[in-house]
Amino acid sequence: MDQFVITGGNRLVGEVEISGAKNAALGILSAALLVHGPCRIENVPNIADVRIFLNVAQKIGAVVEKVDEKAFYINSSGINSGQAVFSELRNIRSSYYLLGALICKTKCVEIPLPGGCNIGARPIDQHIKGFEALGAKVHLGAEKMTLSADKLIGTQIYMDVVTVGATINLMMAAVLADGVTVLENAAREPHIVDVANFLNMMGANIKGAGTNRIRITGVKELTGGKTYSIIPDQIEAGTFMIAAAATGGDVYIRNIIPEHMDPLCAKLIEMNVNITQEDDWIRVVRNKELMPTDVITLPYPGFPTDLQPQMGALMCLSNGECKITETIFENRLQYTDQLKKMKAKIKVDGNVAVIKGVGKLSGATVKALDLRAGAAMIIAGLFATGQTRVQNIEYIDRGYEEIEVKLNKLGANISREL
Ligand code: UD1
Repeated sequence: MDQFVITGGNRLVGEVEISGAKNAALGILSAALLVHGPCRIENVPNIADVRIFLNVAQKIGAVVEKVDEKAFYINSSGINSGQAVFSELRNIRSSYYLLGALICKTKCVEIPLPGGCNIGARPIDQHIKGFEALGAKVHLGAEKMTLSADKLIGTQIYMDVVTVGATINLMMAAVLADGVTVLENAAREPHIVDVANFLNMMGANIKGAGTNRIRITGVKELTGGKTYSIIPDQIEAGTFMIAAAATGGDVYIRNIIPEHMDPLCAKLIEMNVNITQEDDWIRVVRNKELMPTDVITLPYPGFPTDLQPQMGALMCLSNGECKITETIFENRLQYTDQLKKMKAKIKVDGNVAVIKGVGKLSGATVKALDLRAGAAMIIAGLFATGQTRVQNIEYIDRGYEEIEVKLNKLGANISREL
C-alpha cells in the first residue's frame, strides 16, 4: 500500500490553489441526479470519493462526460433504478445522499449501509426520522438499507442534532415532494448553501439555506442546461493554512472564500500567526513563537471538526498548554496516539485532549487513521526532525487532490512510495 515519506524541516513558501470542496461536490453530484437533462458542473475535485461516486452514478443510468480535469456534464434523465448496492459505495459516507436524491424519481432506493471514516458511531437516525416524516418507508437490513415511497408530502421536520448529512439529504428529498417542507435546527455549513444554490439554479424553490430554518416548496421537475461551479474546499484551505503556520512559512492560499475560514483565522491569530486576506485569498505568515490556544469543535460557524486533528498537530509546537474539546465525533482524538509516536506530549480524557507544546516533533512511522487524521500526520511530518512515514494514505486520497504535489510546490519534501 502507498505511503508518504516526508523529510521534515522545510518552510512552506509560495502559492497554493485550493480545489473544489469535497463535501459540497458529493452533495451537488448527488443533487445532479435529480435534474432532468444535462448540467455542467465545474470545479469538481479530483479525489477518490468523487471518482467512486461518478462511477456509481453511471452504473445506475446517468451519463457522465468529462469536459476537462475539473468539469463534467451529468445527464440523469436515463436513471430509472435506485438500486445502488455496489460494494465500492460502502467506503464513502455520502452514499446516503442517493436516498434523498433518488427517492422521488425511482420510488425505491437501495444502498449499502453508509461507511466512511471511523471517527465515531455516526448514526443516521435523523435521516430516517426525516424520510419517514415525509411519508417514506425505511427498511434497515444487516448490510443494506431500502427507502420506498410512492410520493413524498412536505412537512415540518425538527432535527434533534445539527447534522450536515441529514440537512442535505432531506433538502434534496423535499425538492420534488408535494407541498412545503420546513427543516428546523438545520446545519448551516457553506456546502449546504452550495447544494441549495445548485438546486435553485436547476429550478428548485429552497429558501433559508445557511440559516437553521430551511423552507423548501416542492416543484414538479428540475431542468438542466445550466452550469454550476462548486465552492472551494474550506478544509483543504485550512489544512494548508495550518501547514504554513507549522513550518514557519509564508503561503498565499488562493481560490478560496475567506469568510469560510473565519473560525480558523481567529485561532491562528490567537496563536501569533499573521493573517492577511483579500477577496479570494489569504496569506499566512508565521515568524514568531506560537502561543497556546484552546479549540472546541462545533457546527458551522464554530470551529470545524474536520480541522481539529490538523490543529492538534500544530499545537505540539506552541510554547504552552493547549486544549481541544471534540464535541462532534467521539473517536476523533485517536490520532493523538500517532502523534505520541513522534514524541508529542498529549493527554486525552474522554473528548478532551491537553497538548503540551514541545517545540518540535521527531520523525516516526505513523498511520493515517482517517482522512483528516492523515492530514494531521502530514503536517506533523513537515515540521518534525528527520523522516516521517505516513501509512494508510488511501484515506488521505479520498479527500485531498494531489496533496503531495501541492506541498512540494511550496517547498516540502514529500514523496509517495509504493
Ligand atoms: C459531514 C462531513 C464530514 C464532517 C461532518 C461534520 C460529508 C460527506 N461529511 O459528515 O466531513 O466531519 O459533516 O461537519 O459531508 N448525527 C446523528 N444522527 C444522524 C446524523 C448525524 O446523531 O442521523 C450526529 C453525528 O454522529 C455527529 C453529528 O450528528 O455527532 C454531526 O454529524 P453530521 O453533520 O451528520 O456528519 P456527516 O454528515 O456524517
